[in-house]
Amino acid sequence: MKSLVTENHQVFVSKGPKKCHIITFGCQMNEYDSKTMAQLLMDDYQQTPFLEEADLILINTCSIREKAEHKLYSLLGRLKRLKKRNPTLKIGVCGCVAQQLGERLFERMAHVDLVIGPQGLYRLPILLKALEEGEKHITDTTLRDDFDIPFIDAPLPRVGDVRAYLTIMQGCNNFCTYCIVPYVRGREVSRPSEHIMKEIEGLIEQGVKDITLLGQNVNSYGRGLNENIDFTGLLKKIEKAFGKDIRLRFTTSHPKDLSDELIDCFKELQSLCEHLHLPVQSGSNSVLKRMNRHYTIEAYLEKLEKLRSLCPEITITTDLIVGFPGESRDDFQKTMELLKKVRYDQAFAFKYSERPGTPAVNFGQKVPEEEKSKRLNELLELQNQIGLEQYKKLEGKVVEVLVEGVKGDQLVGRTRGNHIVNIEGESELVGRIMNVYIEKACHHSLNGKVMH
Ligand code: 5AD
Ligand code: SF4
Repeated sequence: MKSLVTENHQVFVSKGPKKCHIITFGCQMNEYDSKTMAQLLMDDYQQTPFLEEADLILINTCSIREKAEHKLYSLLGRLKRLKKRNPTLKIGVCGCVAQQLGERLFERMAHVDLVIGPQGLYRLPILLKALEEGEKHITDTTLRDDFDIPFIDAPLPRVGDVRAYLTIMQGCNNFCTYCIVPYVRGREVSRPSEHIMKEIEGLIEQGVKDITLLGQNVNSYGRGLNENIDFTGLLKKIEKAFGKDIRLRFTTSHPKDLSDELIDCFKELQSLCEHLHLPVQSGSNSVLKRMNRHYTIEAYLEKLEKLRSLCPEITITTDLIVGFPGESRDDFQKTMELLKKVRYDQAFAFKYSERPGTPAVNFGQKVPEEEKSKRLNELLELQNQIGLEQYKKLEGKVVEVLVEGVKGDQLVGRTRGNHIVNIEGESELVGRIMNVYIEKACHHSLNGKVMH
């Protein structure tokens, strides 16, 4: 019996004779990297949704929190049986866990053939060839400071989506004390704007209408490039060329670098959607200091105020960490107060997870696991209530919704402010922007009716 793997698996339409199955864990950047891998393999491999018929299984991994790593090990355990039945099957572990563990992964999981870090993925075809020629246990986890993201001169694999991610830069130079990203993704590197423009053109040809530009810290886009461009320059260039054809979003922006010029873009640029994800992490200045975040809550709030005065309807979302070493009950209370003050439309909250090699590992006053869970629950309860109240403001309003797909017997779409909307309607509407009357707000989504 063939088993369809739907969770964490994307099907790309490609054409090669052999079969490949790509699984993605972690962030949007990993989803984008998986698409790049499919693009690199397109001539030799077609994608299969069935693990059992794959000649090659690639797992794109995430190491941002411990939980993400556990998923990898349980999956690899299952794949061991598959490899026993089919010894020619090749298994590759890619991405951030691969970068972190390198060759050590083979000690624990000898049935893995290939370990490739985020910079190594561009060498995938060469590494696979070496495997075919008999080489065993290949690792490519070098992290070069002078790394450039290559342009792949091949058609983009078709995903058939109305929405797409596009990496404009990767790596990070910020070194927040909890975060493993700078160690696994290396230093910041931006893609030339010409490559980005070409890729947008390709996405539009495929029917994509909503593009999210990705980078660990998009505000530093352009640094180190041989062209005179910064992030707002890139947004303006995209607006000029494709403004009428797409909705544009970006993530992630660091609060310390959110400039007035970028804030102005939300008013000036028609393509830029009214949504900003601005991770605050904590509401306490002393915790922010130990996190090495380089801003105070007062400065953060000032920026949000400016943004909301220019663009009152903007959706604001954030990331939060609870239980960072030394976070007192009073510090946590400050985060709760911040939620009440800002009234985020959505917040992604995580328990602090110790990441090997990061400075916070050596910080004292660790918060017990039980206390972290308690704080997380308290925070989620408050945010759920605030989020619902925020969403309820849209009840009775007519909003522009881009219809993205079909889910069960309903259509699913998205507002410019990034609210998911469930709508009654026919599948021909997929890819179209409709005026939708919002009947009811739920937690994290809205229900509406198309206005004719
Ligand atoms: N523990 C918990 N959460 C973390 N994040 C990053 N590193 C950690 C960690 N060690 C969260 C941050 C970040 C989001 C992508 O993941 O909130 O913004
Ligand atoms: Fe996870 Fe960060 Fe790597 Fe993305 S960049 S996969 S969030 S560790």
